[in-house]
Amino acid sequence: MSVTSRHRWWQRGILYEVYVRSWADASGDGVGDLRGIRSRLDHLAWLGVDAIWITPFFPSPMVDGGYDVADYTGVDPLFGTIGDFDALLAAAHDRSLRVILDLVPNHTSDRHPWFIESRASRSSPKRDWYLWRDPAPGGGPPNNWVSEFGGPAWEWDAATEQYYYHAFASAQPDLNWRHPQVRGAMYDAMRFWLDRGVDGFRVDVMWHMLKDEHFRDDPPNPDYRAGMAEYRSLIHAYSSDQPDVHEVVREMRAVLDGYDERLLIGEIYLPVDELVDYYGREGHEAHLPFNFHLIGTPWDARQIAVLIDRYEGALPEHAWPNWVLGNHDQPRVASRIGDAQARVAAMLLLTLRGTPTLYYGEELGLRDAEISPDRVTDVREESEPGRGLGRDPERTPMPWDASEHGGFTHGLPWLPLGELNRSRSVEAQRDDPGSMLTLHRRLIALRRAEPALAIGDYWPVHAGGDVLAYRRTHGGRDLLVALNLGSSHARLALPPGLGPFRVLLATIGSLEGGTCQRELELPANAGMILEPLASSDRR
Ligand code: NOJ
Repeated sequence: MSVTSRHRWWQRGILYEVYVRSWADASGDGVGDLRGIRSRLDHLAWLGVDAIWITPFFPSPMVDGGYDVADYTGVDPLFGTIGDFDALLAAAHDRSLRVILDLVPNHTSDRHPWFIESRASRSSPKRDWYLWRDPAPGGGPPNNWVSEFGGPAWEWDAATEQYYYHAFASAQPDLNWRHPQVRGAMYDAMRFWLDRGVDGFRVDVMWHMLKDEHFRDDPPNPDYRAGMAEYRSLIHAYSSDQPDVHEVVREMRAVLDGYDERLLIGEIYLPVDELVDYYGREGHEAHLPFNFHLIGTPWDARQIAVLIDRYEGALPEHAWPNWVLGNHDQPRVASRIGDAQARVAAMLLLTLRGTPTLYYGEELGLRDAEISPDRVTDVREESEPGRGLGRDPERTPMPWDASEHGGFTHGLPWLPLGELNRSRSVEAQRDDPGSMLTLHRRLIALRRAEPALAIGDYWPVHAGGDVLAYRRTHGGRDLLVALNLGSSHARLALPPGLGPFRVLLATIGSLEGGTCQRELELPANAGMILEPLASSDRR
């Protein structure tokens, strides 16, 4: 067995998030769909990624963009049919692309037949499938828990005179994961898709699934300041990340382990030490608890180096790391750090140790689009308006070409594309050697060609000023990655024993092929991958 073949496809591979509503619309109704995805798969094969995670396309009233599921084993007509799904899966597999679905087990839609039955009466056989509570002794909600979307997490049901709990919108009641039938029903839904051939799941809000059995109040957050999202007013000691959630994750993993090589990803926003618990003590939980820490860490060489060290240090021995720069809930990376640094960030993401996940449009350098008040669709914007919490700006349609709606749709797009993003289409960048798209394609190709980047070890070299540098090594190959996270020229004195080097790939093309002996010159916003000069000479 070669060293590489010891690694699973998702360890060597690169994941790509397709936000289904915004990627490609074949039907012409202005909303992306499954046939649209199929029609554009060649982009992904050309780009070189290994798997797509498709956001929810299940029947849904779309209160929260499909994260309010009314049927776990169907396809919403907005997105197509089950036949379209099967055709998409087959077409993806034909191109060696794996397909990961979004499983939303924490809550359903309030229109899901389970909830309709549960809410019908206190004696309904499904009453306990959800979290129903009496009012507090003095009246009002049973405890102080706050919804992630702001406001109390409890909704009064006048007909049955109890409150139900919803961690998100009131149209998204939380399931009771202590009920064995709930677990069984969700595992059956997983098997439905696994039997059809899907390659795994990204599990929505995995750390939310269980809550304190005694429904104790969450303590106030002493660091809360006016202007922050209301959810941050409390420390969620009792409403999320409960110790017994790990048993549920192990059960989900066991469902997947009944099949070959399927992948379990957890969406988890927790500090590093708690995040890594979701790998499980013996590695029997999530394969990849999503690591979102690059999104919140200041774009500063030292702070990022500390993050990498803390994360690498916290990982259990069996655990495989992963990194993310953005997703459909977060401002886009190019808007957070600017266009020039977004190129450096792409190099960081694609050269760190661990599976990278790209968010659609990152490969084009898309930015958050401006959404006028009359075009707002996101429930998050509506729940706490004007605070910049809405997620429409990062969810705008993918620009494919120069045609009227960027080739995304023949109809009217559900969100505007934004002028700047329209100019950054796939067509505009595909043949441009200096484009963001070309940079991504080359970085991906290099990562695939160089086991040192895909599966090699990580060694910190330097973090100071604006410079972050590290080595990736494997089987005698020793690559240096040097990133200038700032907008002024910088220098890196190579530590004794390192070098000389030749620049293999750079965010600024003119730097490629250059050599350095003892000191590396890093122009503003430059990132480089370097190989030892001697070995490159031998090749
Ligand atoms: C996380 C999803 O990514 C987000 O879009 C959604 O609003 C919440 N979970 C609730 O499902």
